[in-house]
Amino acid sequence: TLSYPFYGGHQAGIETPPQDHLVFTAFDVTALTAVELQLVLAKWSAAMAELTAGAPVGKIQPEREQGIPVDTGEATDMGPQGLTLTLGFGPSLFDERFGLEKFKPLNFADLPAMAGESLNPALMGGDLCIQACANDPQVAYHAVRNLARMARTAVRTKWTVLGFGRASAGAAQSTPRNLMGFKDGTRNASGGVDFDEHVWVGDEAGQPWMVGGSYLVARKIHMLIETWDEDPIGDQQSIFGRDKKQGAPLSGTAEHDVPDFHATVDGTPVIAADSHIALAAHENNNGLKILRRGYNFTDGLDSVGRLDAGLMFLSFQKSPEQFITLQRKLGSSDRLNEYIRHVGSGVFAVPAGIPAAGSYYGKEFF
Ligand code: HEM
Repeated sequence: TLSYPFYGGHQAGIETPPQDHLVFTAFDVTALTAVELQLVLAKWSAAMAELTAGAPVGKIQPEREQGIPVDTGEATDMGPQGLTLTLGFGPSLFDERFGLEKFKPLNFADLPAMAGESLNPALMGGDLCIQACANDPQVAYHAVRNLARMARTAVRTKWTVLGFGRASAGAAQSTPRNLMGFKDGTRNASGGVDFDEHVWVGDEAGQPWMVGGSYLVARKIHMLIETWDEDPIGDQQSIFGRDKKQGAPLSGTAEHDVPDFHATVDGTPVIAADSHIALAAHENNNGLKILRRGYNFTDGLDSVGRLDAGLMFLSFQKSPEQFITLQRKLGSSDRLNEYIRHVGSGVFAVPAGIPAAGSYYGKEFF
C-alpha cells in the first residue's frame, strides 16, 4: 500500500495530500525528569519510522509463553496505508519542569480567549500531540495506541479525536465535503510558494529546531447539526458564500472560480460581507493564508440525544498569529457561528523533520 518517507526536511502529514482518516491525540508528560522525556522522544522517533513503513514496533508473538507482546498486533499485514505521524510540542512543554525554557519559540503561548468559544477544559492543550493520518482507520489507531503504550510511564493521554472523511484537499485531490454538506478545502494554501510564505517556519521562531517546522492549531468544532439541517438552502449558501452542489462562489459558476467580493446585484453584495469566505479569504486579510487539513468527526450522541459531530479543524501556519487573526474576525462576525461551537483547542510547535535515521525529535533540547 501507499507509503510516505519518514525522514526529510519537513515532517510528513503537512504537505502530504490528506489521507482518509485521522487520530489526533494530545498528551501530558507525567515524567518528572528531562531524561525520561528525552527517552520518550527518542523511542517515539524510532518507532514512528517503523510504523510509517508498515512495520510493527516489536514482537507481536514472543517466543516464550510468558512473553508480553510488544506490538499490539491489530495492524499486522495491513501495510503502511499512507500513514503519517506528525509530532507537536505544546507551550507547556517549555515551562520549568524540564528546563526547556530557552528552547521555547518566540511568542509561542496558549491561544488567547476569543469570541464564540465554549471550550471544554478536558479538550484543551497538551504538552505533546500526535496527528496520525492514514487511509485505514485501524492503522492510524494502532500507531497512536502503540506510541502511547511504549511511553505509558512518562506520558498520559489528555484528549483525542478520531476523524473520518477528510475535510480538505491537497494538490490533485478532488474536494471532499464537511458534515454541513459543503465542499471544504477548495481554496487552501498550496504549492511551493504558499508553503514557504505561509506554512514553513524560518528564522522568526528564534530556534534552529523550528526552521522547516510549522505551527499546528487544533480546534474541535461542534456543529449544531439539527438546527443546520432545518436551515433553508438559500441561507446555507449565503452563510458560506458558496453554492452547495458545485461549491462555486456565489459570484461564479464553477468550484474554482475566484470569488468576486465586489460583485453586487441591485446594490446588494452577491457574497455577503459576513459570509464565511468573505471574512476568511486572503483577499480580505492582507494576503494571509493558512493550510487547512481538517477532518469530520462524530462522537455519536450527546447527553440529550442530539448528534455529537462536527469538524476537527487542523491548520498549519508559519505563526499562530495567522490563525488568531482569522479566528478573531470569524468569532465575532461569521454568520456560521449560529451553527457551530468551538469546544476543543490546542496549539503546537511542530519541529522540522528528522533528516536521517540516528536522530530524534527534540534532540537539541538535551
Ligand atoms: C473556507 C467550512 C471553520 C478558515 C471554507 C469553506 C467552507 C468552510 C465550506 C469554503 C470552501 C473552501 O474554500 O474550502 C468551515 C466549517 C467550519 C470552518 C464548517 C467550522 C465548523 C474555519 C475556521 C477557520 C476557517 C475556524 C480559521 C480560523 C477558512 C479559510 C477558508 C475557508 C481561510 C478559505 C476562504 C477563501 O479563501 O475563499 N470553510 N470552516 N474556517 N475557511 Fe472555513
